[in-house]
Amino acid sequence: MNKVVAKPIFHILVGIIITLTTTKILERIRKKKKNSTTTTDEEGFEMEMNKNNKNKTNYHNSIVSLVGNTPMLRIKSLSEATGCDIVGKAEFMSIGGSSKDRVALFIINEAEKDGLIKPYTGSTIFEGTVGSTGISLALIAKAKGYNCHIVMPDDQSEEKYLLLNSLGATVEKVRPCSIVDKNHFVNVAKRRANEMNNEPDKLSDQFESNANFKAHYTTTGPEIFKQTGGNIDAFVMGAGTGGTLAGVSSYLKPLIPSIKIVLADPQGSGLHAKVKHNVLYSPFEKEGSRKRHQVDTIVEGMGQNRRTKNIDKLFENHLIDDSVKVKDIEALEMSRYVMKNDGLFIGSSTSVNLVAAYRCAKALGPGHTIVTILCDNGLRHLTKFWNDEYCKKLGLVSKGNALELLN
Ligand SMILES: Cc1ncc(COP(=O)(O)O)c(C=O)c1O
Repeated sequence: MNKVVAKPIFHILVGIIITLTTTKILERIRKKKKNSTTTTDEEGFEMEMNKNNKNKTNYHNSIVSLVGNTPMLRIKSLSEATGCDIVGKAEFMSIGGSSKDRVALFIINEAEKDGLIKPYTGSTIFEGTVGSTGISLALIAKAKGYNCHIVMPDDQSEEKYLLLNSLGATVEKVRPCSIVDKNHFVNVAKRRANEMNNEPDKLSDQFESNANFKAHYTTTGPEIFKQTGGNIDAFVMGAGTGGTLAGVSSYLKPLIPSIKIVLADPQGSGLHAKVKHNVLYSPFEKEGSRKRHQVDTIVEGMGQNRRTKNIDKLFENHLIDDSVKVKDIEALEMSRYVMKNDGLFIGSSTSVNLVAAYRCAKALGPGHTIVTILCDNGLRHLTKFWNDEYCKKLGLVSKGNALELLN
């Protein structure tokens, strides 16, 4: 074929190919547009809803499946200040607002398996608690067809009692006293469970229960390992029952042999002395120095002056490598600091964890990853830890100098 004829034919072919391709592309775009609607939210983000998904459902059938699987959050201000990654597992995002959801669910499931309780037969779950576990138990009990009876000390944040009442639990308040006293909230809960012998009832007993440990060993620990890719230099956590610290560190230690497990211990608790000197003792326990209650601190849910099965696991299995003592004023300053700098609104025990995580990061030096638990948020602490007037009466006044105080 001569060049004069070939050139126009080549151009015609290229033209046809371009036309066909553009038509196909336009058709695809038109189809996609037909199947989707695009809306713009207040911030200007485009959200596309695909009509092909119309018949597909994506919802949960019970609040029970909204327990756990919490996200992890790198705390920017503290990470930048230390050159480390300080990462918190946001347990406050679980349906009942704390990691006690996991414990409550495991305790109820085990009691069901053991035939101790049966749903929708009037079975009652009893627990002696300072709050979070009660809230999780009350919520999950209702979702699974049980009643809940909570015995707690009468000096906790008012919002916890209000919440428990709203969740349909029976709430019994007792004066704070020593565990050897028959009126300690744990002993009263045990008594109530025994008194109710006309139907199958269950004392959940988070302090002694292996289900508490198991909840964290089989869910919190593996989630943390997966979310960090196993890249953890230290895990920092306080202990109330000791379930979280024992469960998570028992899972992580064999997988990451170099990991440091660091206890975060509030003032008034004897655990720090147990780690450092092998004696369960707090200077706040000195004769004549005790101010308020068992663990003399503004912090709720953490600190311990007695041995329980879950606390014993920590020491018998040598899980803790080090401990950081945290004063109330340091916890208070930390909560105000991350609120102001990160928009992170935390409760008192989380503040203790963050103070200890910060100190741990400083000790390890830049480039390390420190993981901790964000136990609950500030909403449960509005009338005490987040009430400046209340804190002032205890001599706790924030000067807004968290990091200077800790350096
Ligand atoms: C608010 C709060 N503080 C502290 C803790 C301490 O945990 P543990 O009882 O496992 O030692 C928890 C546990 O979930 C909690 O919810």
